[in-house]
Amino acid sequence: MTKDSQTDKLKKVKKVYSFWGRFPSLYSAQDAITFLGRAKTIRSQAIQKMGLKRGDKALEVACGSGRNFPYLAGAVGKGGFILGFDYSREMLDAAKRLCKQNGWNIKSVQGDAAQLQITENNFDGILSVLGISAIPEWEKALERCHDVLRYEGKLVICDARLFTGFLKILNPLIRLIYSKFAAWDHSKNIPEKMKEIFGNVEAENLNLGTFFIAVSVKRER
Ligand SMILES: C[S@@+](CC[C@H](N)C(=O)[O-])C[C@H]1O[C@@H](n2cnc3c(N)ncnc32)[C@H](O)[C@@H]1O
Repeated sequence: MTKDSQTDKLKKVKKVYSFWGRFPSLYSAQDAITFLGRAKTIRSQAIQKMGLKRGDKALEVACGSGRNFPYLAGAVGKGGFILGFDYSREMLDAAKRLCKQNGWNIKSVQGDAAQLQITENNFDGILSVLGISAIPEWEKALERCHDVLRYEGKLVICDARLFTGFLKILNPLIRLIYSKFAAWDHSKNIPEKMKEIFGNVEAENLNLGTFFIAVSVKRER
């Protein structure tokens, strides 16, 4: 990808999520459609797969408006540490308001996940839900996740796919809508790239194959 197309794609991310960040209840409402009514179940399954314990240190990449924060905060408890990272200032503002309402002490950092400029490292677990498919330089973002994870720590990616089987007739419409309104790029083979970087991946399909949760463990290379 050329530098120009990366810049254009980041501009699109900024524009699209500036809207959703200003209307977080609308974003929450569309969750029901995207997850086919199973948002809570799938989000909590993804966080369970991180294997977090009380007091652990967790990072959420492309955390958006904080839809996964209840599960992360529940997993690490008050003695834990959570960092939410996102490119959209407006999504992070919505996430901060959610934290204030719920009394969660979650650090937020704004930036491009391809660089992931943060001072912390050695995370026990890293999560990204519907984030990697929207990040222009997603391969670099996965590399950075590997860098800041501790050995035996887990990277859990939960993301969406197009329909297979008879429902694939809906795919052109889904591609059009989610590309325009969510900067979604369906063409990325995320589990394959995780395997290349980590040397291991276990992936589970959910919701008629329209969702997957992929887990990689950081091992000595
Ligand atoms: C579909 S939303 C998912 C938000 C949240 N993870 C969730 O589960 O609801 C995609 C998010 O990816 C973020 N994003 C896209 N490109 C990014 C980048 N290069 N670096 C960091 N965040 C990015 C967007 O700002 C947006 O908040």
